[in-house]
Amino acid sequence: MTDARSWGLALVLCLSAACSTRIPPPPGAGGAEIYRLQNCANCHGGSGEGNTLGPALKNLNKDWNLPDLVSFLADPGPFLAKNGRLATLRKAYPAAMSRYDNLDADQLGELARWLLEL
Ligand code: HEC
Repeated sequence: MTDARSWGLALVLCLSAACSTRIPPPPGAGGAEIYRLQNCANCHGGSGEGNTLGPALKNLNKDWNLPDLVSFLADPGPFLAKNGRLATLRKAYPAAMSRYDNLDADQLGELARWLLEL
């Protein structure tokens, strides 16, 4: 591949993932570390305060239980389709959240438990 083409491809990949290289969390990583390594902060802020790309992640325990939040993180699509509150959030931001099915069940559980305590 020419240099120009690889840069173009890198740019497209970068934009499609909100420029986030997802670093696989080391074994035993806690929720805060997984949040950082997956670049959730790009769209939700360093401590979940939200920014122009994504909503604040506060008091999530009002709307989520642990198993549903784990499923949402792995695949948000079905929740956006059936949940009016999330559909409204979807329209308020330029890009939807992607799937975090790169994380295994333990990592998703750690992340979701941490989010529910923010
Ligand atoms: C590209 C920007 C982006 C990234 C990166 C991102 N999100 Fe989101 N997130 C959103 C948007 C936008 C929404 C609102 C729903 C939608 O449009 O998909 C959302 C919704 C959510 C919600 C639901 C909020 C609620 O009020 O119920 C949670 C929880 C969440 N994100 C957690 C995360 C976590 C954890 C990560 C990292 C693993 C992450 N997000 C990465 C943009 C992003």
